[in-house]
Amino acid sequence: MQQYRHDDEAERADLIDGLLAPHASVQPKHFYDVLGSRLFEAITALPEYYPTRTEAEIFAAHATAIGARCGSGGVLIDLGAGNCQKAARLFGVLRPAQYVALDISVEFLRDTLAGLQQQHPQIPMMGLGADLCAPLALPAPIRQGRRLFFYPGSSIGNFAPDAALALLQRLRAAARQGDGVLIGVDLLKDEAQLVSAYDDALGVTAAFNRNVLRNVNRAIDANFALADWRHVASFDRQGSRIQMHLQAVRDVEVHWTGGGRAFHAGERIHTEDSHKYRVEGFAALLEEAGFADPVCWTDARQWFAVFHARVPA
Ligand code: TRP
Repeated sequence: MQQYRHDDEAERADLIDGLLAPHASVQPKHFYDVLGSRLFEAITALPEYYPTRTEAEIFAAHATAIGARCGSGGVLIDLGAGNCQKAARLFGVLRPAQYVALDISVEFLRDTLAGLQQQHPQIPMMGLGADLCAPLALPAPIRQGRRLFFYPGSSIGNFAPDAALALLQRLRAAARQGDGVLIGVDLLKDEAQLVSAYDDALGVTAAFNRNVLRNVNRAIDANFALADWRHVASFDRQGSRIQMHLQAVRDVEVHWTGGGRAFHAGERIHTEDSHKYRVEGFAALLEEAGFADPVCWTDARQWFAVFHARVPA
């Protein structure tokens, strides 16, 4: 298992910059320690969290068409593999010559891949620790041949549209003629439906969001008290995005190595956005990034879309 180059010093400086900004923020990559990855898995099982289930329905209902369009026998590159379940469901139709799984949470990925390899001994597999915010470096052991870049779960929505475009352009630059992308995208829908997906009754999403503070405490030796912070999810219609914050429930003072900051009761730390697209809008983004011929499959309610597009000749 290869790991992306961690610059701990730069990462700490970034974290502290974010915390000291007038509108404090923590980057979403800090969600995913092993516990964070498990909490996210639990989110995908919640009745309110429709994206994972709906995407799986689309894969199941359109498996043959997706397989025909993507072709079989290529290299399947999974850009946010997590528990690898989404890719594994497509093994049957895609019959990949190699499965390459990337994730920020290396330890979690290592365990998952070990299990998956046992279930599919015939597929060569490789795991890579990767931060998709950085340039995409695909190491030599990746096989030659047609590649399919797979980015499920609407993770693309966690980038602002300009950053999503930049990521698609990086993929386009790494891709060659014949390669393609298969991307899951959450669609704009009723606001109440959206908000409940990010603020479930059981409080799993709240736990997932607040867990980021444990990771921050570990990274910069800070003393955030979890009881001081509550999870807030809201819909920003103008930006077409769900916004996740942590809100101080009282005045607090937080200290970390070399500094600290006071937060007033009600003050917020931004942790993540989840952008929601219209079908035409995302197709246009793919074309703007240099991919051709976008098609998509959706569910009956039009809640989620799976897009395919290819590198033009
Ligand atoms: N990619 C997921 C999404 O946008 C990530 C996610 C789900 C998430 N629930 C969350 C991120 C709660 C932060 C907080 O749907």
